[in-house]
Amino acid sequence: MSRLLTSTLRGLPRIAKPIYTVPGRSFISSSTTTSSSSAAFAQEQQSSDDMPVAVKTAAQWAEFGRDHVCHGLGRLRDHVIVKGSGLDLYTAEGKKLLDFTAGIGVTNLGHCHPHVSRAAAEQVNNLVHLQCSISFHAPYLQLIDRLLPAMPHESLDQFFFWNSGSEAIEAAIKVARQATGRQNMIVFSGAYHGRTMGSGALTRSKPIYTQGTGPLMPGVFSSAFPYWHQLGVSPSTSEEELVRLAEHQLDLILRQQVNPKDVAAIFIEPVQGEGGYVPVPPAFLRHLRDVCDKHGILLVIDEVQSGFFRTGSYFAIEQLTPELRPDILVFAKGVANGFPISGIASNKELMGKLDVGSMGGTYSGNAVACAAGIASQEVYQSGEIGQNVAERSKQLYAVLNGLAESSKTKHLIAQVRGMGLMASIEFRNTSDPLTLEGIPEGTAVPKNIGKRVQEYCLNKDLIILTTSCFDTIRFIPALTVNEEEIDRAMKIFTEAVENVAREG
Ligand SMILES: Cc1ncc(COP(=O)(O)O)c(C=O)c1O
Repeated sequence: MSRLLTSTLRGLPRIAKPIYTVPGRSFISSSTTTSSSSAAFAQEQQSSDDMPVAVKTAAQWAEFGRDHVCHGLGRLRDHVIVKGSGLDLYTAEGKKLLDFTAGIGVTNLGHCHPHVSRAAAEQVNNLVHLQCSISFHAPYLQLIDRLLPAMPHESLDQFFFWNSGSEAIEAAIKVARQATGRQNMIVFSGAYHGRTMGSGALTRSKPIYTQGTGPLMPGVFSSAFPYWHQLGVSPSTSEEELVRLAEHQLDLILRQQVNPKDVAAIFIEPVQGEGGYVPVPPAFLRHLRDVCDKHGILLVIDEVQSGFFRTGSYFAIEQLTPELRPDILVFAKGVANGFPISGIASNKELMGKLDVGSMGGTYSGNAVACAAGIASQEVYQSGEIGQNVAERSKQLYAVLNGLAESSKTKHLIAQVRGMGLMASIEFRNTSDPLTLEGIPEGTAVPKNIGKRVQEYCLNKDLIILTTSCFDTIRFIPALTVNEEEIDRAMKIFTEAVENVAREG
């Protein structure tokens, strides 16, 4: 960018404002040290053109970011990341970080998976963009061809692509309303479906995502997710009882708050993500299918975070309820390993009710993102990823369960849960008395355990995330994670938990 800008400015009076180069991938290699990479960063900026340019250090870039990047965007750390490879991220200062977030469940195949990046690079030279209302383009159709056999139900053979998960949720809302002629939606406490005006109206995990921005889309009713927090019962409550209580709550909503014949759709995540990494009990999903069939309501399954082998199968519902028929399946994140594309899949009858021209969007089904999506499916369909998730998640849960049983740390831990490499550990919290169940009287529970554990890990260059309004840490590494990387991360995590236990 700066090369072009400076050459067009050549011959003009010296500009008052310095131009800076943008850090590129070549600045950092795994072997660079902090000081040499900073030097390389500076050198590259100076040599990018014969025009003198001012040089910013990584710290100055971070300062620049704090000055100019929207204040409403939160960050864990102010690192300037210049390269990613597998589970490693490299900062402009040459620091190597172990990424256990995968961009929040997006780079399921690791940063810059060679097969995916190569496919995208090739596509860049063939066709970057063709607006989907002008014509078909080849990668769009080929991606559908690749996704068809991966669908959890054979009726899901109609596709619409968009860019983000929130947009795909908006598309699902639109299909549900158009196809049923009804307006209302039912969602579950703790749900996260996005932050736009429609998808944000369906979100129930934290107020921050939409606070101060209402009114949002009206007509959304919230029922209890079968998770002990949401029902005010103890963590040891049986799954059967949780399902019974959640079914009861839904029944009350449909008798007291909204007539089922006015409900267009029920939206649910098979594993709640921002709600705390809570898998839904299969019996509850089956119950929802029955309720929907009885009242002509559509069942929308949001696999934005749980899809693409995150839980060990292509989609989580394959393991939970293999026979379940979603009316609409929503996907995003892992579909193209970091290239922005999302989508919905539904059946011919429903999608056939849409008015032609009602769906669309400038970047819907971008050709480069589709090419990356095709390559990603090739890797997913090789069979290796599912196998790795099975092995590595076993290794991960063994450590988490060990912490929950260890005499040193068990007084800190309320629950270990998840599916595949969508795993979490919830800490006890004195503000959430339910989490104190089973703890011997008089045992002191440290405050802010999750945040303190996370901070310790970040300081040891392991990036992990918290989730939900409860004191929970989630593990969501790339699905290509190897045994050594899990070992390394869990060693740091164990130290972190033991450290909080010691400090109290
Ligand atoms: C289950 C679920 N649905 C929808 C979304 C929204 O996706 P996006 O952030 O791409 O808009 C997310 C994002 O985390 C999600 O986890």
